[in-house]
Amino acid sequence: MPLDVDAIRSDFPILSRKVSGGKDLVYLDNAATTQKPQSVIDAMTSYYEQSNANVHRAVHTLAAEATEMYENARNTLADWFGTTRDNLIFTSGTTEAINLVAWGWARSNLKSGDAVIITEMEHHADIVPWQLLAEEKGIEIRVIPINTEKDILDMDIFEASLPGAKLVCVVHTSNVLGVANPIPEIINMAKDAGSKVLIDAAQAAPHHRLNFSNLGADFVAISGHKMCGPTGIGCLLATSECIEQMEPFMSGGDMIETVTMEKSTFASGPQKFEAGTPKIAEAIGFAAAAEYLSKLDMDEVHHHIRGLAKLTAEKIKSVQGITVYGDHSVDEGSGVVSFLHDSIHAEDLARFMDAGGFAMRTGHHCAQPLLDAYGVSSTNRVSFYLYNTEDEANAFVDHLRYVVEKFGG
Ligand code: ALA
Repeated sequence: MPLDVDAIRSDFPILSRKVSGGKDLVYLDNAATTQKPQSVIDAMTSYYEQSNANVHRAVHTLAAEATEMYENARNTLADWFGTTRDNLIFTSGTTEAINLVAWGWARSNLKSGDAVIITEMEHHADIVPWQLLAEEKGIEIRVIPINTEKDILDMDIFEASLPGAKLVCVVHTSNVLGVANPIPEIINMAKDAGSKVLIDAAQAAPHHRLNFSNLGADFVAISGHKMCGPTGIGCLLATSECIEQMEPFMSGGDMIETVTMEKSTFASGPQKFEAGTPKIAEAIGFAAAAEYLSKLDMDEVHHHIRGLAKLTAEKIKSVQGITVYGDHSVDEGSGVVSFLHDSIHAEDLARFMDAGGFAMRTGHHCAQPLLDAYGVSSTNRVSFYLYNTEDEANAFVDHLRYVVEKFGG
């Protein structure tokens, strides 16, 4: 059944606000962060109003309630992502999840000369930690280029790069192009070559119900705020084998078993990697987001947002001076459409669009190597989510056409 977008919109209070001198907000920056439904806001407010206490530490009523809410959030999210609570480590987001793989797993399991594969399509969060680790440990980084004619990774180079690789790090869906990579094929090829696999699912988890057990990856990194949850929370899904092999990269309270002045021993499982007071309200909000999405048909969510991206890409291609990046002819992919005008600077264009109420992103999108491959330093980017409508997409195209006619020279 198609999504009831009107009903969905009424769940998101921010969508009824006005911007830019009374214009209806048309929020098209969802790849950066999504808006939050009332149920997520309520779950966090209720925790703060009724149950706020630290977790895992005390026996009083509020502490017990907070601990139960926090650990129930882990159960809900593990269920949503097709895994168990023992395989879900809370992090501050995708960036920390990838850093946890680099500093918690790779640092202690890879040695000088071992190779890590990354791709030209990665977000900086899946490039920089590997460069730092390479400097520290003498690890070789192999980069899979993107074929910019076809907007896909060069799978021949990927295959040729696999022998000897210990870890393959790949983004599921590009935050710049909206292109989805052939993840099952990449995982199968990497596994056949004896490599572990890390998937950056920041842009995929918001519109696919990922199933960690079926996927076959060793690590999956996810952000809560891009799927209706709060900022400051995400998770790393990791196999039990990898969790066993990981060492903590942050240490302190809540992750220990015993501490003496000479030596410490650590908690087992996810808690070993969650030092300090955890993100309690955020975890509760993240679980509320998964509960919100669980009431929707995620195939329809995907179909809806991809449909809006396809429609928009197709229409703006015919606007004088506009170049669209990424392949929007295929059903796989996200709600992202990146584009540039040949004479209106990306930031100026974004301001003109903002004046009409349209929120879109500009910049290198934390993916400078990808933009370099296309020979540009920034793009304009709109990104749709489940509450956006065809009317909004059409209004965006009309306003863009108006701006280009007025300022496009
Ligand atoms: N990585 C996020 C984006 O693409 C912030 O906007």
